[in-house]
Amino acid sequence: MISDSTIRLIQDTVRIEEVVGSFVNLKKRGNSLIGLCPFHNEKSPSFNVNVARGIFKCFGCGKGGDSVNFLMEHEKFSYPEALRFLAEKYNIEIEETVSQEDYRRENDDRESLFILNEYAKDHFKTNLKTEEGKTIGLSYFHERGFRDDTIEKFDLGYSLQSRTHFCDQALAYGFKLEFLEKSGLAFKTDQGTLMDRFRSRVIFPIHNQSGKVIAFGGRILKTQEKTAKYINSPETEFYQKSEVLYGLFQAKKAIRNLDYCLLAEGYTDVISLHQSGIENVVSSSGTSLTRQQIKLISRFTQNITILYDGDAAGIKASLRGIDLLLEEGLFVKVVLFPDNQDPDSFIRKVGGTAFSEYIQKEQKDFIAFKTEILLKEAEGDPIKKSILVHDILESIAKVSDSVLASVYTHACSDKLEMDERVLLVELNKIRLKKAKAVFPEPGSPESLNQGGKELTPFKGSEGFQNPDSGPMPQETPVSNNLAPLSPLRDDEQEEELLRLLMNYGAYDWDEGISVAQDILVQIQDLEMENPLFHSFLNLIAEEVEKEPKLDPRPLIQSRNPEIRNLAVKLLSQKYSLSENWEKRHGIEVKREEDLVKEAVENCINHLKRRKLDALIKENQDKMKKAQSPEEEAELLSIHLVYSNLRSNLSNALGVVVLK
Ligand code: CTP
Ligand code: MN
Repeated sequence: MISDSTIRLIQDTVRIEEVVGSFVNLKKRGNSLIGLCPFHNEKSPSFNVNVARGIFKCFGCGKGGDSVNFLMEHEKFSYPEALRFLAEKYNIEIEETVSQEDYRRENDDRESLFILNEYAKDHFKTNLKTEEGKTIGLSYFHERGFRDDTIEKFDLGYSLQSRTHFCDQALAYGFKLEFLEKSGLAFKTDQGTLMDRFRSRVIFPIHNQSGKVIAFGGRILKTQEKTAKYINSPETEFYQKSEVLYGLFQAKKAIRNLDYCLLAEGYTDVISLHQSGIENVVSSSGTSLTRQQIKLISRFTQNITILYDGDAAGIKASLRGIDLLLEEGLFVKVVLFPDNQDPDSFIRKVGGTAFSEYIQKEQKDFIAFKTEILLKEAEGDPIKKSILVHDILESIAKVSDSVLASVYTHACSDKLEMDERVLLVELNKIRLKKAKAVFPEPGSPESLNQGGKELTPFKGSEGFQNPDSGPMPQETPVSNNLAPLSPLRDDEQEEELLRLLMNYGAYDWDEGISVAQDILVQIQDLEMENPLFHSFLNLIAEEVEKEPKLDPRPLIQSRNPEIRNLAVKLLSQKYSLSENWEKRHGIEVKREEDLVKEAVENCINHLKRRKLDALIKENQDKMKKAQSPEEEAELLSIHLVYSNLRSNLSNALGVVVLK
């Protein structure tokens, strides 16, 4: 376990803009940084990073947290993994509260698998230095023209011919058999004995975006019949082939800098291009492109060029995948290589400069490319041709940029030898059909099962303006949650009070006591009904006991995810006292402090009134069951006191009491 003091140190050292910034393009807006949210699909940025507080928040999908949460969500790290990652990034030495040995045995699957993969990567790399490794593995790489620095950059390795060399070493090192199997690095044979998955193969480790090894590919050295050229780690909870792009870790910087990504099919394409200085390249590892992979790319750039090994059947099969790219708003171009060359063999033949020139010269936009391919096939067949026209228009309809879409339509009318107006009419039909599917008219059958979810603004983003988060990029309807005439529901009042505590708890009132202290004293005999809010308030109280000016960080950094998430939510919700209040009350310019005071009082009064309501109800129940006139009289006097208090409170709240 990582010690608490290390966690503190890590959290005090990390800079959220650097952590998030290495995955998301951030731009400065006002006092915060904004970008496209990596957790949901969006075209205009609603993802905010608040540097001062060290937190991020997406006002589109609601995800939020600190650097650790970001890595957990984005890289699927566990809590300790995220901390270790940050410690490494910032050169912080980790102090363990238990020994490394215990740690290795820790029952945390994910962590163990990552450690095992890391170990395996080193193992395979070391094998390259053995006699067998040198004569077989290393010489294979050299024959393919891979330089030593390239081999190192991609952590390439070799698995020995032995059937159990890896297993033997890993077990001796202390890894559990269970994990060897889980990771797929070993498997049980029919005879029940353990065997290495990778034997006599050169090894291509597959890294995730942050450079952790999550799987391996192994290539045979000779063309043998019956054996697959490549075998890969089986899919695990943490490795889904369709969600990974090979080489993204090594390429992401170049992709972002050049604002342009090349997409190849194989491991060796990526490696060869890198070696020749073309670093903005990733590979889909032979599978057809998936939405997740596209999302990965679109975090870094909107421009993508697909590099095809020129085999027509393969190309046709992949056309659908490319429609997905258009749907995600990417600008897609396509290049074919001559004579069944793949990018790897082509660049080795012509060199990096000629390769780049070839791409620049030969790349076609996807729609033109698709049109050509399909046209060739439909030659002389009018029915096929009409299907193809529709097919191409479907692709164009996926392009959300309308100017670009009309450029495409124009170009296609030439190629298809069809009147552009006819194409436009057809295109509009397709668009209309789609629009209907997304926004059904009220009362139509589609509208019943959609729940209108996408049209409802995100709850909790309304009417708040974080004082230091600057203007929000999204337009949100103005509602006035703090206004006396539209009181919040009870649990919203509770949340509101916590929000005031978190955002203003470190301020001092004039009397020299902190806002947090003051609130806590005032609500001593009030309970939070919501259990999460209840625990949260207790934690705040603990912190205030240590330091009267509430430091919200320990709550953001809590080990309990519910607490962490709530802390972030409270700190990042838009908060606008001033605007709404000034307008409603005609108050000219109020100091922030007074506004906070007023908001706190308002909130506490609500909670007090709720408590009084409960007391009144309880008292009334007693009155109904009263045994004697004396008892009744006494209960009545209590009732009068309560109602009096209640109407005072209601007056303070500006609520009309109906009798
Ligand atoms: N692939 C795979 N399993 C196979 C064949 C291919 O996983 N049996 C994946 C690999 O990621 C491979 C990619 O598909 O890199 C493309 O396959 P291919 O073009 O056949 O291989 P190359 O990458 O060109 O490899 P090489 O140049 O070594 O033949
Ligand atoms: Mn190849």
